[in-house]
Amino acid sequence: MTEIAGKAAVVTGGGSGIGMGLAGELGRQGARVAVADIQIAKAEAVAAAIREAGGQAVALPCDVTERTSINAMRDAAIAALGPVQLVFANAGATSFTPLIEMSDADVDWIVQVNLMGVMNTTRAFLPGMIEAAGGHICATSSMAGLLPGWMPVHVPYSAAKMGIIGMMMNLAIELKPHGVFTTSYCPGGVASGMKANNGAYRPERFGGPEPVAEVQFSGTDKTHSSMAFYRPEDVAPIVLNAVRNNRPFVFDHAEQRRLFAETYVSVVEACYDDLDAWQAENGVPQGNPTGADLID
Ligand SMILES: NC(=O)c1ccc[n+]([C@@H]2O[C@H](COP(=O)([O-])OP(=O)(O)OC[C@H]3O[C@@H](n4cnc5c(N)ncnc54)[C@H](O)[C@@H]3O)[C@@H](O)[C@H]2O)c1
Repeated sequence: MTEIAGKAAVVTGGGSGIGMGLAGELGRQGARVAVADIQIAKAEAVAAAIREAGGQAVALPCDVTERTSINAMRDAAIAALGPVQLVFANAGATSFTPLIEMSDADVDWIVQVNLMGVMNTTRAFLPGMIEAAGGHICATSSMAGLLPGWMPVHVPYSAAKMGIIGMMMNLAIELKPHGVFTTSYCPGGVASGMKANNGAYRPERFGGPEPVAEVQFSGTDKTHSSMAFYRPEDVAPIVLNAVRNNRPFVFDHAEQRRLFAETYVSVVEACYDDLDAWQAENGVPQGNPTGADLID
């Protein structure tokens, strides 16, 4: 069990949407919360609301793509709240532009925020959690990471979000002796600021702010036409419940289980069927005859 009450928690991207919901719920459940965001005014509003509701919270500026910025945010969080044992690496951004039309800077931005942002945040807070012999990192991936065919026109985003899942699952093995756990949260449609503010705060080195994308999903895309967008305050308790129980994944749309089966049971199983058929006809590859597991 990972206790929430009484712990210090950090939420990146805590100024809006899912992060705002997580920060508020952490405050309600008795955690001391650092609301970290590249949009500091939004983080300040969220922290103020938590304090008004009787909780303890600070707002801290950070750009998750910058290690120096993340490390400064970590130091400020620890100074304000004490050792941090709950980390929600949640900041993210996306693009609705086809890959071949994206600029190099845009591709770099999406991968840096979503993948390296989680890596940077994790690495900044890990030593403290290991020292405390306990903690939990919950990274916000996406259904577009678990099932990269789920959302069209999201190539760098899907790659980064799938990378988060690999990172969290592999890290879980490394951290087991230290009592630190990991969770990949895969939202499947949460009403948030992503549509309105996506790109508006893109840092200068990734091309600076870009016009707000007007189209979320194409009119011909039937995948999402009936998708319900849940409220951040309704999904946050589901996420914290999974963290409390040290679950490796947390989902928020029960009906999407069907898509998981379609992707991994139908597609991946069919590819294994192909391999079985190939080997039945052609035989199984021989092991390296020298017995060495590396070939020079
Ligand atoms: N809303 C959904 O349906 C959905 C679905 C799947 C995954 N997600 C993921 O959920 C997470 C939260 O997104 P959201 O939907 O709440 O959107 P949002 O735009 O409301 O919130 C994202 C927050 O991240 C912050 N941020 C962006 N870049 C940053 C940076 N470099 N450094 C620090 N903060 C930064 C933004 O300022 C913003 O406050 C993201 O990782 C997103 O990819 C959302």
